[in-house]
Amino acid sequence: MTAIRGYVAPTTDTDALGVHSLDQFVLAVPDASVAQDFYGNFGLDVSRDGNVLAIKTFGHEHRWGSVIEGIKTKALHHLSFGCYADDLPRLKARIEEQGVKLIDPPPGFESNGFWFRNHDGVLIEVKVGPKVSPDRKAESQWISVPAGVPGTSVRAKAPPVRPRRLSHVLIFTSDVSESIKFYERTLGLRLSDRASDLVAFMHGIHGSDHHLLALVKSVAPGFHHCSWDVASLNDIGLGAMRMHDKGWTKGWGLGRHVLGSNYFHYVRDHKPEDSFYLWGPDVPREFTINYEGGES
Ligand SMILES: [Fe+2]
Repeated sequence: MTAIRGYVAPTTDTDALGVHSLDQFVLAVPDASVAQDFYGNFGLDVSRDGNVLAIKTFGHEHRWGSVIEGIKTKALHHLSFGCYADDLPRLKARIEEQGVKLIDPPPGFESNGFWFRNHDGVLIEVKVGPKVSPDRKAESQWISVPAGVPGTSVRAKAPPVRPRRLSHVLIFTSDVSESIKFYERTLGLRLSDRASDLVAFMHGIHGSDHHLLALVKSVAPGFHHCSWDVASLNDIGLGAMRMHDKGWTKGWGLGRHVLGSNYFHYVRDHKPEDSFYLWGPDVPREFTINYEGGES
């Protein structure tokens, strides 16, 4: 959950070529009902069709995410980026010129676009779609009331938190610098900020949040988080409390980032204590570190 404060205006370079939006993220999971519970409680509009969940925001037609059931451990299935119709053949030609091999779509995901893998093997689609990245800095609310008037309701009467849209995803990569070059050359994304070779934030060239794709260094590719824009700091606090009340107690927040300026509260999408241990204190961080894999 995030209140986005950073915005990058469209480029004035008329020759610039690039995708305009992160169209959707797709995850594969062992049990879609867990994801349905998680994203539903998060305040998203989740519907199930067979073994696939569609994740939308209330009041918005766009499908921001999908979850496919039928894999042993949760994994990023693919990322889909949207572009303007005129740009699709130009993007396709440029990506092929980069020596990137185009591949067939995975079953059930046939589209008007084309598919390839990044340098880490992550599956990526580029397709024609609506521009769902913002065209201006997102409005945020700081609700105030006159003196002598209560500023809050009782907790039971607090309104539901409804994220407005997907803002970005953060994925793991084996090489942040290589990733930046790859997404610049293929999707036309541009670097907003980076912190050495550990993390980088990239935006779209047609008007974008500070980042629609973030990259963090790891030993292998993977999905770290999806970030959903809400209207206020109050919504972040309220949403985090709702998730906590429903048993989604792990996470990190409330806080504010420097790069991107956004306020945040992260919520973990699984409850390890359900199957990992019956009782005891929180699992210490170092308990799950892969020292053999070079983590520290
Ligand atoms: Fe984020």
